[in-house]
Amino acid sequence: MERTLAIIKPDAVERRLVGQILARIEAAGFTIRAMRLQHLTKQEAEGFYAVHRERPFFPSLTAFMSSGPCVLVALEAPDAIRTWRALMGATDPARADAGTLRKEFGSSIERNATHGSDAPETAAFELRYFFRGMEIF
Ligand code: CMP
Repeated sequence: MERTLAIIKPDAVERRLVGQILARIEAAGFTIRAMRLQHLTKQEAEGFYAVHRERPFFPSLTAFMSSGPCVLVALEAPDAIRTWRALMGATDPARADAGTLRKEFGSSIERNATHGSDAPETAAFELRYFFRGMEIF
């Protein structure tokens, strides 16, 4: 079994897509191990995306991620990191395959509805960033 961090981003929460996205997550066989609605501060978003701090989109990305509440979810499944990334589709919704969450629900590369950890080390960092051990069931 493997765990990964999923985020339902502020654009999808604002558009009331949380239920549909969670239904897709459960239908795909993931177990939800922790979950919380949270409005990140700019500083919390900057800490989360620190690996991107030199990228030109960093100020805009962190402003967007702190613009409204998002849903933080710890997912568990065999091969969870890869499987969740496949369900989300490509980062840019315009390039995502049909049937993926970002294709269906994303509206731009920034407002792309969901986030997922990209490797085991990132998943460990991201899960720890948002959840204490006692909060993961
Ligand atoms: P996410 O998986 O949350 O990881 C970093 C985010 O940066 C990414 O999704 C995109 O929403 C956002 N982003 C904005 N512009 C770009 C870009 N040009 N390339 C990659 N990611 C971008």
